[in-house]
Amino acid sequence: MKTDETQVVVVTGGSRGIGRAICLEFAAPGTRIFFNYFNPADPQGEKAHAEKTETLVKGAGGWAKSQSVNVASENSVKTFFDTVMHEAGRIDVLVNNAGITRDKLLMRMTEADWDAVMDVNLKGAFHCTRFAGRAMVNQRSGRIINIASIVGIIGNPGQANYVASKAGIIGLTKTAAREFAQRGVTVNAVAPGFIETDMTAVLSEKVRTEMMAQIPLGRAGQPEDVAHAVAFLASEQAAYITGQVIHVSGGMYI
Ligand code: NAI
Repeated sequence: MKTDETQVVVVTGGSRGIGRAICLEFAAPGTRIFFNYFNPADPQGEKAHAEKTETLVKGAGGWAKSQSVNVASENSVKTFFDTVMHEAGRIDVLVNNAGITRDKLLMRMTEADWDAVMDVNLKGAFHCTRFAGRAMVNQRSGRIINIASIVGIIGNPGQANYVASKAGIIGLTKTAAREFAQRGVTVNAVAPGFIETDMTAVLSEKVRTEMMAQIPLGRAGQPEDVAHAVAFLASEQAAYITGQVIHVSGGMYI
């Protein structure tokens, strides 16, 4: 990460939830935030969410620009990063946050359910890491932070596709950390537990109650709890940390 006040931050899935909180965490004069989002089921609604994130970032004294980009598509990701490099000329921080769920028990899970989740959550991070990584390696500096999940470590019934994608993200993190270390680029993951966003709002009251019972700190996490950990990993203070997974789960996994 650059030590002066100007930096370029890229966040995937910044329109809502944790991604929006991450954008807001970085909102500061001199910081340019490029974020993307994608929702084929409700493109206009998602665009409105993205515009709200932009407005909030600007309200906090920052600068943000958003674009609808499917991170699962290599061509779309390439075009997105070409635009960022054309406009900003460098990338200091990449946060791979975009993610989806298609929950079903294994015996009911279809190939399409599996592919959809792996394509966005894991392949999307792979594409973005390659394009941003190229810029960072050339710069000899950069921070990549991947949003994993506690379930990628402990497993979760009904989420074989999601859990596999998040376990994969941890493997991607550790390997990228080893490959990029000598080029001044650190790669770490944050593993959130149960965070209040649209993703968890769809869970039944029964599942929510069961989840809450497993949280030693006794409350659900907020998107800002995750964003603070991301900001730390992107900071100068975290310069000697790479290949690690920081849990932000209220102690769900100890
Ligand atoms: P959310 O559902 O509120 O937001 C998802 C974001 O990803 C949106 O901005 C959406 O536009 C974007 N997105 C979805 N598909 C995309 C694609 N193909 N290309 C680009 N962007 C895409 O989700 P939430 O809860 O904010 O989750 C963010 C990340 O945190 C995800 O990776 C999720 O797996 C992870 N996470 C969330 C937890 C939770 O309890 N909410 C717990 C652990 C991990």
